[in-house]
Amino acid sequence: MDRQALTYFLETFGCQMNVLDSQLVEGQLQAHGLRRVSSTRDADLIMFNTCSVRQHAEDKVLSRLGELKRVKLHRPDTIIGVLGCMAERMKNELFEQAPHLDLICGPGELFRLPELLADVAESRTPVAALTDSLSRRTSKVNRGHEVDPLEVLDQSRTTDVSANVLQAYVRVQRGCDKFCTYCVVPFTRGPERSRPPAQIVDEARRLVDAGCREITLLGQTVNSYVHPEDGRAVRFAELLERVNDIDGLDRLRFVTSFPADWDEDIFRVMRDYPRVCPYLHIPAQSGSDRILKAMKRTYTVAEYLRLMDTAREYVPDIALAGDFIVGFSGETADNFQSTVDLVRRVEYKSLFVFKYSVRPGTAADRSQLDDVPAEIKAQRNNELLAVQSEISLRQKQALVGQTVEVLVEGYSKAARKARSANNGELVQLTVQSEQDRGSEATREPLSNQLVGRTPHDLITVFNGTADHIGRLVHVRVDSASPLTLFGQIAD
Ligand code: 5AD
Ligand code: SF4
Repeated sequence: MDRQALTYFLETFGCQMNVLDSQLVEGQLQAHGLRRVSSTRDADLIMFNTCSVRQHAEDKVLSRLGELKRVKLHRPDTIIGVLGCMAERMKNELFEQAPHLDLICGPGELFRLPELLADVAESRTPVAALTDSLSRRTSKVNRGHEVDPLEVLDQSRTTDVSANVLQAYVRVQRGCDKFCTYCVVPFTRGPERSRPPAQIVDEARRLVDAGCREITLLGQTVNSYVHPEDGRAVRFAELLERVNDIDGLDRLRFVTSFPADWDEDIFRVMRDYPRVCPYLHIPAQSGSDRILKAMKRTYTVAEYLRLMDTAREYVPDIALAGDFIVGFSGETADNFQSTVDLVRRVEYKSLFVFKYSVRPGTAADRSQLDDVPAEIKAQRNNELLAVQSEISLRQKQALVGQTVEVLVEGYSKAARKARSANNGELVQLTVQSEQDRGSEATREPLSNQLVGRTPHDLITVFNGTADHIGRLVHVRVDSASPLTLFGQIAD
């Protein structure tokens, strides 16, 4: 096929791991001469990198695929592919649901994508690339040698195609061994395997050399990272220290942490190394011991709370972020109240709340009923978010008058809208909503509004110029909403 002429459209659903996979896939495709387009209309290849964590995420992709039936009718040469977790979970069932689909490729096979696409283009028959389950029998520390083919994707990284080199994700680990009873990830992403530390540090260094200021290390249970080296085990705290030592790096973050595997050494590194941001995403999932047990989370509420207290002893201003599932099988009003109590007690910086969604093949699907009605799930979801919103607003209002350090990511959404509405020319728009408004004090045009994050991952909006983008600036906070700080540049 004439690859020079080919264009691709890639839409990503789901978590940061998928965002990273998509960046790496794009790097590969562009290295093969393919060109990105932003509409399916102009694309020779249409691909979705998908998420299976909740039914809702899968439904969105299935409906997008449905819309593409027409495209395939009009342009039969178009190649349509489903990448990522849905491919791995649904396997050939996907071809039954969407007969116009040409390719399915699981998350562990993405490194073969260019070859698979060439195959499809040539043979015009559907192709499936799925991972036969990797062994979970080998001890975790020695699994490194099993992952060589998978590493191709990470190692093929070309920094110039990352959409955003200011901030980058670096994978430290693939898969998950926890098998929380509700979760599909161990089935779609396979067993937990850590990458060699030298490879991770090398990749991070190349990103920093290319201008990246902030690195986020990614793993499903990032703190369980372990890899053998010279007859000993390198654990996550040591890996953090090594990445921290890269010259030119400003900020280092990591997600997601699993409470039961915590190692106090990680808190020590967070306390002693200023580049490591005081931010910890550490899902509790529920505030009820009975539900935690049914979820097989392997910790109790008391243990989780003790861990959060220890976090604050080491890093007093630490920003904690959590995930909660509401309406899990058998969750009573009392159990939910325990979750509300936990949220009030921990005082998170932010929360991600999810309504329980049964995942076929998981332990909870086999042994537990999905017995909380949808309306109750929705009600609990809203209540928990409302509790958090109150906490978030209080925390942010306490920062009014203080100065925060912000890594400037770019123009705010409102500024981008204002600019595109006027073909890039500056324009004075009226203030529309609290989220969109400019700084009260200066009343500068919305088109000068910049956005960035503090080390605590607080979104901050202020006025500035294009010169500020990509820099660390100090912003004096003059007001706050539950999600955003508003202020003015202080330096
Ligand atoms: N239903 C609802 N939420 C889920 N999550 C994982 N599996 C499910 C499910 N079956 C949530 C968890 C996890 C986050 C990424 O998604 O809270 O931390
Ligand atoms: Fe899923 Fe639990 Fe693994 Fe997280 S730790 S990916 S919730 S199985």
